[in-house]
Amino acid sequence: MRPVMLGYVQRRIGVPDVEVARRMRVLADFADREGYTLAEVFVDALNRPSAALAALVELAQATPVAAVAVAVAADLEQVDGSCDELRQRLERETGVPVLIATQPARPAPTDESPLDGSACWDGHVVSGTRSAHPARVYDYWIGGKDHFAVDRQVGEAVAAVTPWVATDARANRAFLGRAVRHLARLGVDQFLEIGAGLPAPRNVHEAAHEVNPRARVVYVDRDPVVLAHGRALLATDDRVVVVAGDARHPESILGDPAVRAHLDLGRPVAALFVAVLHFITDSEDPGRIVAGFRDAMVPGSYVVISHVTVDGDPERAAMVRQAADVYRNAAAPFTPRTQQQVRELFDGFTLLSPGPVPVQQWHSQRRGRAAAGSMLGGVGRLATPDRTA
Ligand SMILES: C[S@@+](CC[C@H](N)C(=O)[O-])C[C@H]1O[C@@H](n2cnc3c(N)ncnc32)[C@H](O)[C@@H]1O
Repeated sequence: MRPVMLGYVQRRIGVPDVEVARRMRVLADFADREGYTLAEVFVDALNRPSAALAALVELAQATPVAAVAVAVAADLEQVDGSCDELRQRLERETGVPVLIATQPARPAPTDESPLDGSACWDGHVVSGTRSAHPARVYDYWIGGKDHFAVDRQVGEAVAAVTPWVATDARANRAFLGRAVRHLARLGVDQFLEIGAGLPAPRNVHEAAHEVNPRARVVYVDRDPVVLAHGRALLATDDRVVVVAGDARHPESILGDPAVRAHLDLGRPVAALFVAVLHFITDSEDPGRIVAGFRDAMVPGSYVVISHVTVDGDPERAAMVRQAADVYRNAAAPFTPRTQQQVRELFDGFTLLSPGPVPVQQWHSQRRGRAAAGSMLGGVGRLATPDRTA
């Protein structure tokens, strides 16, 4: 199913029907090219930008859209200010990415063009193309379709240094599915995924529902692009909700009314930190974050963690460090950690066998082939406190 897009076409006084029809075509082609279903088009003939904006926001909130596309006149600067201003204003108001599909006023950029957000390009996505985006780079590695040229460039640059990165990303995704099914079989029916990423094959709720169709899932991410896609594609029934939240503030995620309404924290929960804690810097203290969730969970709860590591063969460790530098400079802070540091993230939990191991090996049916990756994954159980201590 394609994500849903809302369209907006300007029709100022004096704009002939044929021009409106042309803008509708620009929009339809653009949506198709970018992989969206164009659900509705709002034709703004009000000539009052604020009223049009209000109508558009209302429509975007009434329909669970993943993005809004705007087809505007080439002379937009003279009418409403720059494209980028309009885009930012709409994004603020609607809470979803706003993409500009303009008339062919200027040549479309190539991948080499400087991606300058102040420019309107014909049918080119302006929002989100200027810098690589962690969730979209990962989406590229796992074979998804929600990524742009700039994300692919970073994905390739990292793969040039650590050629196993895409294999690791796919193995990590498979580990996530196996861990969730394992916990569901152990009776866990509440899952809280922090750093959920873009919807992709084997989402947490799909894995959980394979075992227990009544399992409840909360997806949390701090990224508005991820949230917009998640709301459109993941939160499709009342067993699943998508919540905006930052892992660095456990108390605000745990206090979020939507989280509290969906999960019963008086019963065991599985908190999933899968491929997210390496985005937390040492000074932000990933151990403190996991502990913040641990302290709010009851015995019998679980934590699932996967993390990029730098141990083992020194040559490979140097390659991982170099890849982390490439990633950090292009996309986001990135901190690979040692196996010991990853083990310490499970503080207060009893590690399930086999402990943190390369994600390829955790409860894998595949035997005999040593995993070549850098991603460690494990599961811990929160035991009943020892009252004699
Ligand atoms: C590599 S994706 C992992 C997706 C999924 N957990 C998986 O393993 O397949 C990392 C996600 O973590 C999110 N993220 C990074 N830092 C975060 C933070 N401080 N709070 C919440 N989400 C965060 C990013 O936006 C991105 O969507």
